[in-house]
Amino acid sequence: MVSDYEYFIIKVKKLTGIDLGQYRSQQMRRRLGSMLRRSGMSNFIEYYKLLEGDRSALQRFVDSVTINVSEFFRNADKFGELEERHLPELLSRRSQLRIWSAGCANGAEPYSVAILLDELSPLGCHSILATDIDASILEKARLGTYDASDVRNVTQQRLQTYFTHESSTNTFTIKRRIREKVTFEVHDLLRDPYPTDLDLILCRNVVIYFTEQAKAALYKQFFDSLRRGGLLFVGGTEMVFGAGSIGYVTVSPFFYQKPMGDETKQSSAQVTIPRL
Ligand SMILES: C[S@@+](CC[C@H](N)C(=O)[O-])C[C@H]1O[C@@H](n2cnc3c(N)ncnc32)[C@H](O)[C@@H]1O
Repeated sequence: MVSDYEYFIIKVKKLTGIDLGQYRSQQMRRRLGSMLRRSGMSNFIEYYKLLEGDRSALQRFVDSVTINVSEFFRNADKFGELEERHLPELLSRRSQLRIWSAGCANGAEPYSVAILLDELSPLGCHSILATDIDASILEKARLGTYDASDVRNVTQQRLQTYFTHESSTNTFTIKRRIREKVTFEVHDLLRDPYPTDLDLILCRNVVIYFTEQAKAALYKQFFDSLRRGGLLFVGGTEMVFGAGSIGYVTVSPFFYQKPMGDETKQSSAQVTIPRL
């Protein structure tokens, strides 16, 4: 006997191709439960019928489940690699890093990097730019308040050091001194000029719905935006096709480097892009 939520997952997969079963069910169920209530429905079967018959409700649903999902230290093992290997290497070459979280959603990603830098280089004056196409999610990012599920990968020690816990709502707000290290800006990766001279670009779980052509252009633009030795960090299910022909060296799965020295392949079509 399947529950109404399991029925919903099966039907939604057939309708949209999105496999909600691949998302952590507690978080997703709560998120969908609030969407369902906001739509005036009382259970998942009614909600599915609404989605089936109302294209704009379906669009809102798809946007909600696919677009703004984020959490602190998403793919914790990869953030572990960033902390233990890549950031120390970058810091050994430069004392002030320029970092861009492109498609930062609610800010969990750039704040995760800000926490790592605070631990690895507490006196450093680094620049962390965080951009997204969605102005409303950036408002949330600036507030920096998160549900318990968003901070599930944050250690107790970091929770105590970097967050204030509000027990009445069980929410966690990033402390001001970390919040102030991140600059949030609206930016469309498919349209706007890219910042330059970057040491690290995080673009994770953003391009999944972009065409192959758009992705290829974007990865090339990222390459041009990186300093020599700089790194591109992609999502846990992503890879840069043709990375070598753009000029990247794959240093490990999900981390691509613009080579340090003469071996760098310079772009023939390099253009000067204004800073954000
Ligand atoms: C799934 S979230 C990823 C958040 C974070 N990078 C992570 O991996 O946890 C994808 C974000 O990409 C943003 N996005 C989608 N299209 C974009 C575009 N053309 N330019 C900039 N951001 C975009 C969405 O608004 C959304 O906040």
